[in-house]
Parts: sequence; C-alpha cells; structure tokens
Amino acid sequence: MRLFIGLTIHLPLKTRKGNYILYILSKKNDMVFQKKTMLAIALLIAGINPVFSQHLPSIFNEPSSQKLSRMKWWTDARFGMFIHWGLYSLGARHEWLKHNEHMTNEEYQRYFEEFNPDHFEPKKWAAAAKAAGMKYAVLTTKHHDGFCLFDSKYTSYKAINTPAKRDLVKEYVDAFRAQGMKIGFYYSLLDWHHPDYTMDNVHPLVQTDTSAANYERLNKGRNMAKYREYLKNQITELLTKYGKIDILWLDWTWGKGDKRGKHAEDWGAVELIKLVKKLQPGIIVNNRLGLEDYADGGDFVTPEQVSSKELEKFKGQTWETCQTFSGSWGYYRDETSWKTHRQLLDLLITSVANGGNLILNVGPTAHGEFDYRANSALDSLSYWMHANDKAIYNCTFAPESFVQPEGTRLTYNPSTRRLYIHLYNFEPGSTLTLPGYAGKLQYAQLLNDESEILYSAAGNDIVLKMPKVRPPYEIPVIELILKTAK
Ligand code: GLC
Repeated sequence: MRLFIGLTIHLPLKTRKGNYILYILSKKNDMVFQKKTMLAIALLIAGINPVFSQHLPSIFNEPSSQKLSRMKWWTDARFGMFIHWGLYSLGARHEWLKHNEHMTNEEYQRYFEEFNPDHFEPKKWAAAAKAAGMKYAVLTTKHHDGFCLFDSKYTSYKAINTPAKRDLVKEYVDAFRAQGMKIGFYYSLLDWHHPDYTMDNVHPLVQTDTSAANYERLNKGRNMAKYREYLKNQITELLTKYGKIDILWLDWTWGKGDKRGKHAEDWGAVELIKLVKKLQPGIIVNNRLGLEDYADGGDFVTPEQVSSKELEKFKGQTWETCQTFSGSWGYYRDETSWKTHRQLLDLLITSVANGGNLILNVGPTAHGEFDYRANSALDSLSYWMHANDKAIYNCTFAPESFVQPEGTRLTYNPSTRRLYIHLYNFEPGSTLTLPGYAGKLQYAQLLNDESEILYSAAGNDIVLKMPKVRPPYEIPVIELILKTAK
C-alpha cells in the first residue's frame, strides 16, 4: 500500500502547449525534494508561475511541518516492540488458527475458558523491551478472533470474563508507561466473533464454499452498520480510558478492487479516522484503513515481513516494517524458523539506513510471558544496542554524497552530523576504503568503546585501519565525525 503526500506543480508554459505537471514526492531531508523545490523557486524568479496544489485530497489539511513535529519522536525512535497476545496463544499454532481450521465460535470457546495468564507481569515485558532499545510498544487489544484484552462495555468477549478476570490492557499501559515507553494499540478491524460482522474470503465460517448462496445463508441477521457502531464505540473506549495513546495500529483492509473482502466503506473509515484524531490529536495512525485515496489516510506505510533487501524501495516515505522473530505473530510452539541474531540486526540497521522504523514482534505464551527463544533474541539485541544505539536513534539514510562501501550499511544522524558505518564483513587488521571521503572527516572511532580508528587519505579516498582484534559484536560500527560544512 502506498501513501504519498504529493505536491503538484502546474507550469503554464509560454509555448501554450498545455500544462506540464511535475509530481513531486515530498519528504523531510529528501535531497530530491529540496532540489525540486529550488527548481520551483527558480521558475518563480524567472517569471513562470508554478501553482502548488495537493495531488491527493486531504482529510485533515495538517501542515506538513506540523506532521513532521507530531511524528518526530517516532521517526527518532526507530525501534519498537509489537506484541501479539490473545486466545490464540493457547492454541499455540498461529494467530489465524480459527480461520486456518475453520473453527466455529463454540469450538474456539475452549481457549476463552482456559485463558489464565498466571505469569503475566507486564513490567517484565516493558523491562525487556526497554533493555533491547525499543522505544515504543504496540499491543493487540483485539485481534481478528474478536477477543478483547481490554474491558469494554460493548462485549462480553473480553479478558475480564475469563479466568484472567482483569483488564490486561490497563496493566500493559501502566507498565510500559512507567518505563518511559510510548504506548501503542493494535486493533483488528476484522472480527470473527462479532454476530454482525459479515462474511468475506477469510472468515472462518466460509470454509470452501464461497458461493453467493452460502454467503447469503451465513450473513442472515448480520449487519455491518451495527458492526461499524461497535468499531466506533470500542475505539472510543480505547482512546479515552487509558490516557495518552501514541500509536493506533489498525489491521487491515483488502486491496483495492478485491471483491472478496472489506474496504474503507465497510469500516466507515473516514469517519473512524476523524474520530481517532479528534479523541487523540497527537496520535500516529498506520495505513491499513484502506484510505489510500487520501494524502493523510494514514501516517506511515507498513511493509510486512519483507526481506531486508526490499526495504530500499520505501526510502523517502514514512514507514515501519513489521517483522516476527519466527513466522507467525501469535505464539507458535512448534515453529523452527526463528531468525538469527544477525538477521534481526540486519533488519534493524537496514531499516534505519533507508529512513524507516522496525517493529519487532513477540508472541507471549498463554502464561503471559515471553518464551525462551524470544528472550534470547531480545537479550542479544540489548547487548548490541547497549554499545551501538547511537547508530540507530535519530538516524536515517546518509546524504547522497557519502558512498556506501561494499559490505557495509550507512546510517546518519543529521543533527550531530555523525555517519555510522555498519561493518557487515569485518576482518581484523584489514583496511576499509571510503571512496571520495577525503577532506570530509574530522575524527573516526569504533562506536562500541569509542576507541580511535586511524585513517589516512589516498587521493580522494580515505583508508580506515580496522582493529586487529574483532570487537565482540556481530556487526561492529564505526562512527565518523564529519567536518562541518564551511
Ligand atoms: C497481518 C495478519 C495479522 C498480523 C498483522 C501484523 O495483517 O493478519 O495476523 O496481526 O499482519 O502486521
């Protein structure tokens, strides 16, 4: 899904051959954008009058400077924790198990009856997230199965009515807030439990018979208008009962033109996002309401489970890639596809090197705790982040004039003017050539211990001398302090 904030420049040329339209993607720190803005100014000076207008209609007309400052903490943070937790944690075989196994509400009820997270101590979750360097968290307040971890006036299908007997969202909010983390709510637009939610191609009851007659039979008595009210009511509860909410992560809407599923109109999406921003004006909302026809139908795009190689194509947009430690989001006992420490680091570094965020998911067990594999993955990240987090926070892609040497990634902090070289192929005692860097450096050091890195100029290049002993980090980082431009 793409959301661009676009500026259109209409150029009434003297030749009167018509209007030429330049479509410009606006983005902070975007060199291309800055150059094109300069071009537009030059045209104005030359007497050609470029008329600026929004390419896509806007719902809120928020000035872009205001959006940048609203989003600033989030783009600075770069790293967050996703938490998928709910009844499916008991099944422990994917959060979509109700769909995958075509379970009825009655069949799924056994998880509701057994849900008793006796080791749930969100303070421990928050401490683990914080130690790993994550600055915000997003918890599934309700997933597709419709089960609510929060107390809601509008349903009895909630944690408070299970053996857990309490509002688990409240405890999460208190614990994470106490650690100084920003608070996010994931809320599923889909609902496989609600009696008014109509059939679509992923509803567990549809099974294999997708004929109109079957849909009609199953939809008897169901009413999406009532479900829309339910959405509004629950979103209102979530955004009024728990203090300041920093992120709302709504999930998800079928692709445009896909007749088998639900779209923005089914959710009353425009009304919904207006309500969200009215209740929590500073909130950041993801892009899964299906409002891609609007410039501001979402604040960031959400590439899901894409490989680190693919992240480059999001450069220039405001984005967050969401990724699992293994394959599924909910706790999956028998999964063996856990990502290695190097793969996780690669995702984090490559996200920042392309100007994006990473939100990494933990699926707690039915006890309410992180399992040993998640804990060890988080521990290894906290070890790396403790020594290298300056190369992540407040960073983005490097200015175009700094070439990325082979086998490295570059991240850059524009306010401190420090450039970070992430050494993917570190070789003790070797040298690393930085092409065209001569005259640009003031100082170089290894980030994890601030030990000096010696270097010399060779023509236009700089040659760095690598430490003789491998630093104890999977991907060591060199910090270059750049000369201030004269
Ligand atoms: C998908 C899945 C869902 C998961 C989400 C996270 O939309 O349906 O299970 O919560 O991705 O991005």
